[in-house]
Amino acid sequence: MKENLVILGAQWGDEGKGKVVDLLSADFDAVVRYQGGSNAGHTVVVGGEKFVLHLLPTGILHEHTLGVVAQGMVVDLELLVREIEELESRGLKVWDRIFISDRAHLVMPYHKVLDALFEKKGKIGTTLRGIGPSYMFKYGRKGIRLCDLEDPDRTYRLMKENLEFVQDLCEKVYCENHSLDLEEMFDKTRENYGKIRERVTDTTRWLLQFEGKVLFEGAQGTMLDIDMGTYPYVTSSNASALGLSNGTGLPPAYFSRANFWAVSKAYTTRVGEGPFPTELLEERGERLRERGREYGATTGRPRRCGWLDLVALKHAVEVNGLDGLVLTKLDVLDDFEEVKACIAYEVDGRFIEHFPAGLDTLQRVKPVYRSFKGWLRDTRSAKSFSELPQEALEYLQFIESYLKVRIVMLSTGPEREEYFWLHEPAWKVRS
Ligand code: IMP
Repeated sequence: MKENLVILGAQWGDEGKGKVVDLLSADFDAVVRYQGGSNAGHTVVVGGEKFVLHLLPTGILHEHTLGVVAQGMVVDLELLVREIEELESRGLKVWDRIFISDRAHLVMPYHKVLDALFEKKGKIGTTLRGIGPSYMFKYGRKGIRLCDLEDPDRTYRLMKENLEFVQDLCEKVYCENHSLDLEEMFDKTRENYGKIRERVTDTTRWLLQFEGKVLFEGAQGTMLDIDMGTYPYVTSSNASALGLSNGTGLPPAYFSRANFWAVSKAYTTRVGEGPFPTELLEERGERLRERGREYGATTGRPRRCGWLDLVALKHAVEVNGLDGLVLTKLDVLDDFEEVKACIAYEVDGRFIEHFPAGLDTLQRVKPVYRSFKGWLRDTRSAKSFSELPQEALEYLQFIESYLKVRIVMLSTGPEREEYFWLHEPAWKVRS
């Protein structure tokens, strides 16, 4: 039996990974987040109570599960401290179960200043959480890692250099100013570090020695992956399976026995700018948004909505080497008389079934749809495969045959218990 499980986003994020990871992590001993940062917003509803986690792995909501913030993440210390304190104040004892990588990079206030500045000049539609600039500094070898905070002189020097660099960039290139104060930033960072210091460790070594079952929780989605997504309208990390090894520090062979699953909605959404071939800019798009309550968990922005894009989804299946798909929000389609799925793109009179790399091509593609008869019945109350209307089953079966991957689970609502298996996994789910 394969032991570890990887759960990824198959689309442009917001697929419902939070709920799925929360549900499945009941069967795992540790859950690891390994890329991105507080741009993520994983929503989980437990007993009617809503939790939105931005930095901590979702699995932490189960009292036996350990949570790892691995080295590929960029960490906003202020937010991390707040997230831990909030969970503790709501009665969840998370403190002793968290392990934070000493190699993870920090998101500093000047990264947020730059994020806002870059957005003014060329809009990507970022979450403004400083994610892109933090990764820029990391790859430009100007980053500050958690382990650096052990040496106050070094930290101070790095912050000073970085702040001067940002100051120059703001003034000389963008003719703007910022109000960041070095001493204040240094003191606040040290104070926050002092609060979590005990939980900071070498998480790669920790994971290599760990003998329990591990779930790896991807953030954002494959189509937002820096290499495989709709570049440059992407996030700044490898949100697909490509990010696993560098995000955790674990060798690729570590994942050879893992299951790879991804979560997809029964339609498509995205926030921010960028290509979205199946977007519906009319009443049906609004209906999807309202029925699906499609507003961002991190920024509250309305999400763009459209039909399921099987060309993009196939790209996700192939890039991630998926063994299974979890489908969410089928019920949002319940009152549509006709449901559509994109099965190819038409570009310059040619039909293609692969996801093109070029932005220019992507902006010109026209979706080719297959139409399905709507089921016009409630699917949220379904508790098994056999309770689904025939038309909904036909839609699901077509998705499976097009993608050549099994839909393992259907999530039927936001609560933990609102789901059922279409293909049971090899292990027994406790939930
Ligand atoms: P950034 O990650 O804040 O730099 O934003 C880059 C792009 O990724 C923008 O289009 C964001 O809307 C999108 N994005 C980032 N995180 C998420 C997420 O968790 N869900 C959905 N979209 C996201």
